[in-house]
Amino acid sequence: MTTVRDLQSMAGAEPITMLTAYDAVTAAIVEEAGVDVVLVGDSMGNAVLGHEDTLPVTVDEMAAHVGAVSRGTEEALVVADMPFLSVGADESESIRNCGRMLKEAGANAVKLESGPHTIELTERLTELGIPVMAHLGLTPQSVNQTGYTQQATDREEAEEMLELARAHEEAGAFALVLEHVPANLAAQVTEALDIPTIGIGAGGDCDGQVLVFTDVVGLAESSPPFAEQFGDVRSEMASAVGDYVDAVESDAFPAEEHADSESELDDIY
Ligand code: KIV
Repeated sequence: MTTVRDLQSMAGAEPITMLTAYDAVTAAIVEEAGVDVVLVGDSMGNAVLGHEDTLPVTVDEMAAHVGAVSRGTEEALVVADMPFLSVGADESESIRNCGRMLKEAGANAVKLESGPHTIELTERLTELGIPVMAHLGLTPQSVNQTGYTQQATDREEAEEMLELARAHEEAGAFALVLEHVPANLAAQVTEALDIPTIGIGAGGDCDGQVLVFTDVVGLAESSPPFAEQFGDVRSEMASAVGDYVDAVESDAFPAEEHADSESELDDIY
């Protein structure tokens, strides 16, 4: 099984691959393809649950989906993304919510959208045996304050981000996601830290890359500009379902081989 220590030894030596998954079937495909870290992102809010953004995702929903992903994987590190307001307001509640992901759902670590308010919590969770992946830059749970635009684009914000990155490393975070920040800033943060950085829209100098599953396979209706579509699963699914509808409507399905009959039941009515 991949551990947080394995990831740390990969930093700078070989690229770390991380991808989201929200169910057991997808997680198994993702793992079989060789992905090191499966993130049960709260992106499931907009990627698969039909919400406008990530804010409505609940702790119960996250635990259920993390459970499914854990059951679908054997080797990959499974990271539970803590939903909006599930951490930060109250320490005991934050610890309980994070603990559920490991105790109840089978995650190996949690990810927190990070800021000054998550430094102490990162330290406490790490002390308690809950590995923490930090996340800086564009943090979609703050959409109402920042929108989805690139973050840390001026010197002051960039310096602040570097300081926050260092503070989370010191607090015990085992990795750091950098989302939608200038590539030259991500490169310097990566250089400054010992823990691996995992970029999304942050250029090629991070220690690893993460994307959202539905963007990668071409299932999403729309994707952010920094995502790359490596397949066209949406068309493939639409075509299969269309063929099924046509087959039922034209009486081509089911055929004889799709059901059995019992001769003694021919005249019960
Ligand atoms: O929720 C998510 O999928 C994420 C990744 C995009 C990093 O936070």
